[in-house]
Amino acid sequence: MRSLTSLPLLFALLADAATLPFHVHSPNSFLQSRQSSTSTNGTIPVGNTQNSFYYSNITLGGRTISVMLDTGSSDLWVTGSVPSTTNTGKSVTLSYAVGQAKGNINTATFQFGGYTVNDQAFLLVTDTSSFSTNIHAEGYDGLLGLGPNTGSSIYKELDNASGNSPMNRIFQNNASNTNNYITLLLNRQNDPASTNVTGQFTIGEIVPGYEAISNMPQVAIEKVYKLTDQDQHWQVLTDKDKGIIGPDGQPIQADSIVPKAPDGQLVAVFDSGYTLPQVPRDVSDAIYGRVQGAEWSAAYGAWLIPCGQLVNITINIGGNAYPVHPLDASSSDFGVTFANGGTACLGTFQPVTSAFSLLGEYDMILGMAFLRNTYTLINFGSMVSSGSTTAPAYAQLLSTTNWDQAVQDFIAVRQGGQNQIGAAQYALLPAGQEQHSPESAAEKKAHYEEEVLSRWPYILAGCIVFVVLVVGLCVWRCCKRRRARRARAAAQAGASTGGGGGAGRRGGRRVCAAARVAEYGGSGDDACEPRV
Ligand SMILES: *[C@@H]1O[C@H](CO)[C@@H](O)[C@H](O)[C@H]1NC(C)=O
Ligand SMILES: *[C@@H]1O[C@H](CO)[C@@H](O)[C@H](O)[C@H]1NC(C)=O
Ligand SMILES: *[C@@H]1O[C@H](CO)[C@@H](O)[C@H](O)[C@H]1NC(C)=O
Ligand SMILES: *[C@@H]1O[C@H](CO)[C@@H](O)[C@H](O)[C@H]1NC(C)=O
Ligand SMILES: *[C@@H]1O[C@H](CO)[C@@H](O)[C@H](O)[C@H]1NC(C)=O
Ligand SMILES: *[C@@H]1O[C@H](CO)[C@@H](O)[C@H](O)[C@H]1NC(C)=O
Repeated sequence: MRSLTSLPLLFALLADAATLPFHVHSPNSFLQSRQSSTSTNGTIPVGNTQNSFYYSNITLGGRTISVMLDTGSSDLWVTGSVPSTTNTGKSVTLSYAVGQAKGNINTATFQFGGYTVNDQAFLLVTDTSSFSTNIHAEGYDGLLGLGPNTGSSIYKELDNASGNSPMNRIFQNNASNTNNYITLLLNRQNDPASTNVTGQFTIGEIVPGYEAISNMPQVAIEKVYKLTDQDQHWQVLTDKDKGIIGPDGQPIQADSIVPKAPDGQLVAVFDSGYTLPQVPRDVSDAIYGRVQGAEWSAAYGAWLIPCGQLVNITINIGGNAYPVHPLDASSSDFGVTFANGGTACLGTFQPVTSAFSLLGEYDMILGMAFLRNTYTLINFGSMVSSGSTTAPAYAQLLSTTNWDQAVQDFIAVRQGGQNQIGAAQYALLPAGQEQHSPESAAEKKAHYEEEVLSRWPYILAGCIVFVVLVVGLCVWRCCKRRRARRARAAAQAGASTGGGGGAGRRGGRRVCAAARVAEYGGSGDDACEPRV
């Protein structure tokens, strides 16, 4: 999604750009793939900086560039210079938490995982002055949006197939469409059992050893309304009445803000561009509010809890349980402290704030702290523009977190190797003593607006019915009057139909307002934009 993270401090805290012991794809092997495409395959190593940024190398115009992998947006942008590139003269501005990516749309040869695309459109960001951070120091010099093509601002600006996103270009060029999928495997730093795992990204193939993902249920990608398909993401429904199992082992009850979501289910977006998962405030409170010593931090907009507290959360999707590693449910990566200066860990399932999903298209964003627990496959299906398949897009998830192993890791890392999980200090408070985080006045207002705006299809339909009725009434009254006049056969002054017309225009204006807001939410760079 657009905002890389909602913790401004996070950027400052990230020290060394650690590079994992990757074993494939030197820059040379990328260049080689142009000549002999059989010598490589689509398995691409993924770098990780402090569990907060995941990135891979692409080649653009011959230059190898590390780009953040973002399943929540759909544009490619890079900073610095690109050797063999053509400037289209058209400019675009994309807004992210890190700053504005602004520049001209260029085209160059794009290579990734053994695939080569000529004249790939991308944003060449020449001015990085608005960036709040040195992204290069965090391991990347650009961002590769892996979302649906309809979400691409470049595609919208160029207004034809030449603006298609990189993944779309790779898939639309391919004669076979069954392999139109990507997979993502993220590793976890500071986890003794994850040192063996190398982050991997693949195109059209499965990471060896993870073949079991093919047997996992294909979970349908939930589509947004046609008019707002700029806001389409890789989003799915959680399981009915048990989408999120909380630390007490009970399902956390939360109502969806998505009007068309079935009762008891939430709409969740897979977003590798978000460090912290974003959840409804009540859900975040239910996860952390019963922890002894939990403290709400207004500065971070998140809960702080004692680092030794094991937080047990499971997400259920497609009838399968995906336990969240306790090292992901609270994080020691941010160096946070309680108000009294004591060491704290950050509750990673952060409450969403204002302007979130203003049109009511999703309830939560499953960011990196969730995605580290799954091997994730996304089949683009019919969401490939100019593609050849009509099969619906879907996601498959394979759990990579073994709960018993995860608990052992947690004890080793957070409890000094001594199992204290059952200790009195770590017992949850009774439900009646749950703490709640404060909701600001602005947030209340945004939620209210959201409730109204998210119902725009119904409002639109209502307005159309209203207009039709009013017009019908006018016509009917008109005819009746004319007939009466004719019957009287008197040549008097004509009767007014103004009242009916006025009501019709009022209806029309409401339709307009709803339609304008729908576009607004979808356009890249305004306040209305959800933080995705
Ligand atoms: C494809 O990737 C896998 C996993 O990295 C590797 O073992 C295999 O050798 C690769 N195949 C080719 C042809 O490069
Ligand atoms: C990207 O390429 C550079 C060499 O140009 C290499 O040092 C680095 O490890 C690569 N990064 C990833 C994530 O593969
Ligand atoms: C797309 O539109 C641009 C002008 O915006 C034009 O130069 C280009 O030829 C068009 N490409 C295709 C594939 O239609
Ligand atoms: C492209 O098609 C070939 C077969 O025609 C297939 O082997 C390959 O995996 C496909 N690649 C993608 C990205 O779909
Ligand atoms: C790392 O991999 C090796 C070989 O696959 C395995 O024997 C070892 O148990 C793994 N270590 C961890 C911590 O998983
Ligand atoms: C975590 O929660 C699950 C149920 O959601 C339960 O089966 C498991 O025993 C719990 N583990 C711990 C250590 O609390």
